[in-house]
Amino acid sequence: MGPEVIAEARKAVDALGLSIAWTELPWGSAHYREHGAMMPEDGIEILRAFDAVLMGAIGDPSVPDHVSLWGVILEIRQKLDLWANLRPCRLLEGIPTPLAGRAPADVDMLFVRENTEGEYAGVGGIAHRGLASEVGIETGVFTRAGIERIVRYAFELASSRRGVLTSATKSNASRFGYVLWDEIYEEESRRFPGVRYERVLVDALAARLVRSPQSLDVVVGSNLFADILTDLAAAIQGGMGMAASANVAPDVARGLGVFEPVHGSAPDIAGQGNANPAGAIWSAALMLDHLGEQEAGRALLRGLEDVCREGPRTRDVGGTASTREVGDAVVERVAIATAEHRPPR
Ligand code: IPM
Ligand code: MN
Repeated sequence: MGPEVIAEARKAVDALGLSIAWTELPWGSAHYREHGAMMPEDGIEILRAFDAVLMGAIGDPSVPDHVSLWGVILEIRQKLDLWANLRPCRLLEGIPTPLAGRAPADVDMLFVRENTEGEYAGVGGIAHRGLASEVGIETGVFTRAGIERIVRYAFELASSRRGVLTSATKSNASRFGYVLWDEIYEEESRRFPGVRYERVLVDALAARLVRSPQSLDVVVGSNLFADILTDLAAAIQGGMGMAASANVAPDVARGLGVFEPVHGSAPDIAGQGNANPAGAIWSAALMLDHLGEQEAGRALLRGLEDVCREGPRTRDVGGTASTREVGDAVVERVAIATAEHRPPR
């Protein structure tokens, strides 16, 4: 359903009247079936020519998951060193949450996910294939440089929000990687005396997300922990269809960013025209911020918020509308707002 939701996000961006030149890169499982690779060999070089990438979900039952994912998104995050994955989690008005008694005011978090190392480093192997002693080894990689930059960025973001930062850790069971993570977190905290910070074991943090989401502002986590927590967060904000993300390298001025909904390719409902485009549209708003078009990004997000509040909505969030109907409604809102702000000739 990647192409379906991205089509709506593109339409909504185009309604803002900016001068954006789009290039379509038809990479993914169809490309794999035709060429034996998810993207061209020089795919990473091709991407460097762009300011931003808006990406739909990739993956299909015809290609093993570890092949399709290491073939595009994980490769892109690592090779372009897009070390921060930002995942805002807000419950928008009009969207049902599975948490009883919770309202939009209770759910406004920003997850800051380390995006290049940890359990996703790709270090390991399978040995003694086919023998009783067959073994799979997956090595978590935690570097000082990698931890420092993500933790520091999370402190910066917390200073610009409500000033509360939570670090997801597991340094009780894991004695090395997360112990180093905690030490560096503590060191970095000294640069940000205005931020209230805490570290919480990731299992307890999962429970707290459900029990008291209002107590969380910015949450920083390793690649795997924040991956898991952000599916839980997505469920709290109405489901996978709502969640947006930005893969960025905040230390590179005007660097390339990759913006994608958090959801997967959902082959079970792909092609039926009823996928929720909200996560993709929200991701496009994050992309506009990144491109320096903050006002347009705000207008797009406002259009999405209006549509969530007043409808139409897709089935996953309690409505009956199609992907396109939701996209059209956002386009309509955005076009009205844009016309109002355009100076008269
Ligand atoms: C995500 C996804 C990816 C991840 C998968 C598709 C490899 O779940 O962006 O959260 O685990 O990072
Ligand atoms: Mn995930």
